Amino acid sequence: MTTNKKLLLWVKEMATMCQPDEIHWCDGSEEEYQALSKLVIDGGAAIRLNEELRPNSLYFVSDPNDVARVEGRTFICSQKEIDAGPTNNWMDPEQMKGILRNLYNGSMKGRTMYVIPFSMGPLGSRISQIGIELTDSPYVVLNMKIMTRMGEEVLNVLGENGEFVRCLHSVGYPLTEGRTDVKWPCNDTKYIVHFPEEKIIWSYGSGYGGNALLGKKCFALRIASVMAKEEGWLAEHMLILGVTPPNGEKKYIAAAFPSACGKTNLAMLTPTLPGWKVETVGDDIAWMKFGDDGRLYAINPEYGFFGVAPGTAMDTNKNAMLSMKKNSIFTNVALTDDGDVWWEGMTKEKPVHLKSWLEKDWTPESKENSAHPNSRFTAPAGQCPVIDKDWENPKGVPISAFLFGGRRAHFVPLVREAFDWEHGVFMGATVSSETTAAAVGAVGQLRFDPFAMLPFCGYNMGDYFSHWFKIGNNADRTKLPKIFHVNWFRKDENGKFIWPGFGENIRVIEWIINRVEGKNNFRETCIGRIPSEDSLDFNGLNIQKDSYEKLFHLDKQEGIQEISSIREFFQIFGERLPQRLGEELDKMEKRILSM
Ligand code: OXD
Ligand code: MN
Repeated sequence: MTTNKKLLLWVKEMATMCQPDEIHWCDGSEEEYQALSKLVIDGGAAIRLNEELRPNSLYFVSDPNDVARVEGRTFICSQKEIDAGPTNNWMDPEQMKGILRNLYNGSMKGRTMYVIPFSMGPLGSRISQIGIELTDSPYVVLNMKIMTRMGEEVLNVLGENGEFVRCLHSVGYPLTEGRTDVKWPCNDTKYIVHFPEEKIIWSYGSGYGGNALLGKKCFALRIASVMAKEEGWLAEHMLILGVTPPNGEKKYIAAAFPSACGKTNLAMLTPTLPGWKVETVGDDIAWMKFGDDGRLYAINPEYGFFGVAPGTAMDTNKNAMLSMKKNSIFTNVALTDDGDVWWEGMTKEKPVHLKSWLEKDWTPESKENSAHPNSRFTAPAGQCPVIDKDWENPKGVPISAFLFGGRRAHFVPLVREAFDWEHGVFMGATVSSETTAAAVGAVGQLRFDPFAMLPFCGYNMGDYFSHWFKIGNNADRTKLPKIFHVNWFRKDENGKFIWPGFGENIRVIEWIINRVEGKNNFRETCIGRIPSEDSLDFNGLNIQKDSYEKLFHLDKQEGIQEISSIREFFQIFGERLPQRLGEELDKMEKRILSM
């Protein structure tokens, strides 16, 4: 138990509002995990998967209307609207609290309120932060046990006076007047709300992923990005990987991609080039602070992977498949007849019969997918066969390069390097991608997703750009990571991907590492430095001869079009757009026009 008065008071206050039947303080023990597993299984919300095929693993399906993050219902309630900026939904904090207090009033009746103390990052690291989530969902507790360092030890670190981020979550399905529970309780009314000045998160109505596991997107990105701006560090939507080239000189890279663009695959890449090794520090989020030596050090604030299942297979991401071999949770994938899981793309041969995520019989003839496109696995990071030896190092790992990328069928080349930090910030600010199923909404439309942070920046994105410039201005330039942009998704005239991706991406990483080491193996173009033709290793690749040309060709008309969409996008930031970004755009326009 805790002696932290602020915590005790807050739990009491929230319980008075939500009126749970019981309060359970999570100790994070194995016994507690097993007791909760039994509870969800006995209650019919979960199935235990076949112990021999998938030991100690649970299977859930959600309400069909609660399957992804709900960006339209996500709010940044800063005191002033301008501080939330044009890319976030905003409401006056007092008004929002009024609405939510009404909804929370009695929302946990008939249920237990779980108090989850959790640490984002290794316990006690100077980069880590503590949060407390109150939730009425045992599914959330089970997932938080995998995704964060959770329980008693966190309370010890918090101590009597420690500060913590207050995270309140309710599925919004009180069990009043004889109402019986359902498999996946949730509410049609949903709110995912952040109060950045107070560092408070209030989430209501959804039990799914980032809407409910509040340590992840809500805390580690939206609230942490605000802390990072205030305190001079970075909280980013980035994977972290360690690369060891044949010369043995290991380097760490952090990379930002919009949701469902293959971050988990890149983080655990199996290199096809001999002598190369990739190790994983994190697959989704990086928190970075400067060390005494002037370099940026990153930790992965998470403790597990909450990865998109479809498309994950032994040949696309063996390490993810092995990470989820046991002690994992599966949500909205399909169930096999022998009590294991399956999803589209997992095996070449489809099972002859499945129970789909909609709990219907499924056969290869079925028109619908067996698994939801945003179905997920929750797996302990420590089970990843290539987890980096320093993934829990409280100091973090030193970052040598930043990568930005998106899904772009045209114009954007396979890889390019920024001319300098400012050009790199411009590259980050203009990341754009065709949308995927990770968020509710249309799939396949082009949207700007600056730094892959569009749904995750907890304040005005214009100020966020300024923060990145400031980081560069205050640092020793020679020690800052070099910045690159990659696009694995360029298509040819027949709509086919030109680049094979996955393990072959090591060839691009090789070029990047060479650049970090100062090799002059590049060509200057109007949008950055690209590999000179002989500096990207195509040996042994089964792709067409003219692929280099297809991967790097820059079309002037497409460039002009790109400039005009960026200009239009930048306009939404009004006065908060740093002047420097406009200048970078003008420079790029000049270069394109003189092509
Ligand atoms: C995620 C996302 O779940 O970015 O990681 O949507
Ligand atoms: Mn993500």
